[in-house]
Amino acid sequence: MAQLSKPVEPFRIKTVEPIRQIPRREREALLEAAGLNVFNIPAEKVYIDLLTDSGTGAMSDSQWAGIMTGDESYAGARSFFRLEESVRSVFGFKHVIPTHQGRAAERILFNVMLKKGDSVPSNIHFDTTRANIEFLKARPLDLAVEDAYDPDADLPFKGNMDTARLKKLLERLGPGRVPLVMLTVTNNSGGGQPVSLENIKEVNQVCAHYGVPLFFDACRFAENAFFIKKREKGYAKKSVLEIAQEMFSYADGATMSGKKDALVNIGGFVTCDDDGLAEKLKNLLIISEGFPTYGGLAGRDLEAMARGLQEALEESYLDYRTAQVAYLGGLLDQAGVPVFKPFGGHAVYVLADRFLPHIPRVKYPGWALTVALYREFGIRAVEIGGVMFGRKAERGRREVYPALELVRLAIPRRVYTSAHLEYVAEALAELYRNRDRIRGLRIVHESPYLRHFTARLEEI
Ligand SMILES: Cc1ncc(COP(=O)(O)O)c(C=O)c1O
Repeated sequence: MAQLSKPVEPFRIKTVEPIRQIPRREREALLEAAGLNVFNIPAEKVYIDLLTDSGTGAMSDSQWAGIMTGDESYAGARSFFRLEESVRSVFGFKHVIPTHQGRAAERILFNVMLKKGDSVPSNIHFDTTRANIEFLKARPLDLAVEDAYDPDADLPFKGNMDTARLKKLLERLGPGRVPLVMLTVTNNSGGGQPVSLENIKEVNQVCAHYGVPLFFDACRFAENAFFIKKREKGYAKKSVLEIAQEMFSYADGATMSGKKDALVNIGGFVTCDDDGLAEKLKNLLIISEGFPTYGGLAGRDLEAMARGLQEALEESYLDYRTAQVAYLGGLLDQAGVPVFKPFGGHAVYVLADRFLPHIPRVKYPGWALTVALYREFGIRAVEIGGVMFGRKAERGRREVYPALELVRLAIPRRVYTSAHLEYVAEALAELYRNRDRIRGLRIVHESPYLRHFTARLEEI
């Protein structure tokens, strides 16, 4: 494998956590017991865990110090005001409502804003926003640009929304049936691709024209802002903070999973300017999450999130972060492994249907690849394909599959070194050489929502 330039960590390591490779026969038995679902494998039995970048990052010494100074008062904790200040300095909205994680922010926002039969467009919804919308009997719609679905189109902003389709939709349904528009930055389900500021402005104009509020699903806003700095004309000299502030200036609010670009293991929030909306959100928050100054979190979590949000905007960190993803992607590409291009902000996405052309979509090639990766190498990845987003066959109809069959190798923030990534690249290269041995699967048990978390499968 030729050498690519390695990412250099802008930190040194103060605490270590041992990881251990267990024998193959043990992994085989664990897979059987897990119903061939890597979500059911105990994490201690995983060697390199690329299941998600969500909540799996390493906190800094400053964040850990903040944990000790967290104010655990029930109401009006100092740590809440620190979070409020930190969020406002970046997002710029008046109200900051903490939640235990991103999906809780989505749940309260959608419960307040949606009614049965409404539609909610996004570039591509993430599984939790999709499920929360469907749970309320409303319709999540994906309106990403066509290039988003072309894994070979090496374009800078494949996370963009197709504004012509958005206009048509709003024209057809009328704003009364579309209570909000969402933009996922970066677009996780579409390869972790960024949205350009030009596109954000266009989406804002369409929304303003029809009087529909625009909300960001902002989990990876810092990675998105960094890509704008690197790729969009006119932004090279702006700081990532300034770019993030400009991004949010075109929105009415945001939901945030702090488990990504706030560099914490738990936490989230919803933020907006509208007083009436904020009041309704807080009323719902009190029933399920907690008092509005802690929202399902401990004071120490609020403190860590306040600090993490600022750290995520440091350019040396974002440079290293995106370089890590590009390094793994580059190694795979050089080894001939089919990968989604360009490489995103938090993960490399393997094109599972090209990796395993002998396994048809109905036999879930992406899932089969996650099983093989764990069985042979102890690596855990996640399928973003037919099991996660497929629609079950109903009343004589065939199962419907999403456009892309992907396996995501999500890189936890500040956790793994280049040597770990090289191990992953070599493992995938070897699997690719022996791909004929990997078999298709069928689902033997599934639940009605987010079936990938609990599904059980067997090999055919
Ligand atoms: C784009 C996107 N939105 C929302 C969420 C949900 O956040 P959480 O896992 O904190 O509930 C995620 C989590 O992975 C995500 O990637």
